[in-house]
Amino acid sequence: MDKLIIKGGRRLKGTVMISGAKNAALPLLAATLLTDATCILKNVPALSDIDTMMKILTELGKEIARTGNVVTVKSGDSKKCRAPYELVSTMRASICVLGALIAKRKRAEVSFPGGCVIGPRPIDLHLKGLKDLGADISVKGGYIIGNGSGIRGNRIYLGGHFGSSVLATANVLMAAVLARGKTIIENAACEPEIVDLAGFLKKMGAKIYGETSHRIEVVGVKKLHGATHSLISDRIEAGTYMLAAAITKGDIFLKNAVYDNLLALIDKLKEAGVRIEKRGGGIRVRYVKPLKPVDVTTLPYPGFPTDIQAQMMALMAVTDGISVITEKVYPERFIHVSELNRMGAQIVLEGPIAIIKGVKGLSGAPVMASDLRASASLVLAGLVAKGATEISRIYHLDRGYENLENKLKKIGADIKRVKE
Ligand code: UD1
Repeated sequence: MDKLIIKGGRRLKGTVMISGAKNAALPLLAATLLTDATCILKNVPALSDIDTMMKILTELGKEIARTGNVVTVKSGDSKKCRAPYELVSTMRASICVLGALIAKRKRAEVSFPGGCVIGPRPIDLHLKGLKDLGADISVKGGYIIGNGSGIRGNRIYLGGHFGSSVLATANVLMAAVLARGKTIIENAACEPEIVDLAGFLKKMGAKIYGETSHRIEVVGVKKLHGATHSLISDRIEAGTYMLAAAITKGDIFLKNAVYDNLLALIDKLKEAGVRIEKRGGGIRVRYVKPLKPVDVTTLPYPGFPTDIQAQMMALMAVTDGISVITEKVYPERFIHVSELNRMGAQIVLEGPIAIIKGVKGLSGAPVMASDLRASASLVLAGLVAKGATEISRIYHLDRGYENLENKLKKIGADIKRVKE
């Protein structure tokens, strides 16, 4: 197993190229199951989660070739319909093959995804939405068995206790595009990754309207054809490097970052005193003066992303004053708190609320995290901490950050990957 060693205290300066969005790539790869024709996806990041999805598609009979960031998916055996436990259990997002299999192959056998360190992650909304479309769903031997022979358009309410669900929306959308008649998804997620999925499906011939809102309309078509699509850039990766600029008192240009997809984070960083400018082809982020504490509440898009909560906490941990972070999407997503405190942060938890008393500095320590974004917050903390921070279990980072240490090295970080 590899670990990262970061020696903190360097000011980061330069340009970082933002990769294609992992959370767009996963559902778009699943969407290729909706056709037997060839699909080409561009700007696909090299990440272990993407490898997992490609393995699942191979299990499902697709032939996949990757050249750099271009992935070509061709039809092979289109009768297969089983996504096995061994793969699904390593990545919950594998559940997004369910809707496409039900719609196109009329049968799905997808392992029930297990628990998750960021808290309970039920799939009731996925199953409800697909049932409302007329799919027959049962659970047997740890697998979700879906039969889609009777699916037809319907009006579906997809809101849950925590608002809309990104992948439940993706699943229902993928099933609806091939269901006869009209589907209306109320309380749909409208994350940029859902909009990108709808864009790809439309290129394949789907009829979708209103995907930038919480009400998506779909008119089912008989068949979809192949398409070529370039993925949007990763707003969570971009947000993480924005925070790297702020926490190291740096100046970073994020090439390919999309300003409009990051408004909630930009608003909070500006409130804290960070200088942020939309530039041709990206965003420039600069530290210009001591930062102020801010209060943040995570919400579904366009609210503040839960996937940037941990990284924001690292910045607030070294910002003078009291900040409050309320987690409304995953109320238990605070695995990073104890590790940040081991580095000298002063954070207390009151249920889904973290109260952060900014400290003057952090000190490097051996740390580990069992979740992707929590690990990213430890990297940010390490970049500013005094001395060396050793981060173990970095396979979590490899799930979601393409080329992390090289990108950071290029802008001046003292970071290296070593074998444990
Ligand atoms: C996606 C993202 C993940 C991000 C999350 C929230 C991908 C691959 N992953 O995950 O990085 O953290 O959105 O922005 O895109 N819920 C239910 N029932 C369900 C489904 C979800 O109650 O059937 C709850 C969840 O427990 C959570 C909330 O709804 O509290 C939002 O989760 P959801 O949007 O579904 O997350 P994912 O789509 O799995």
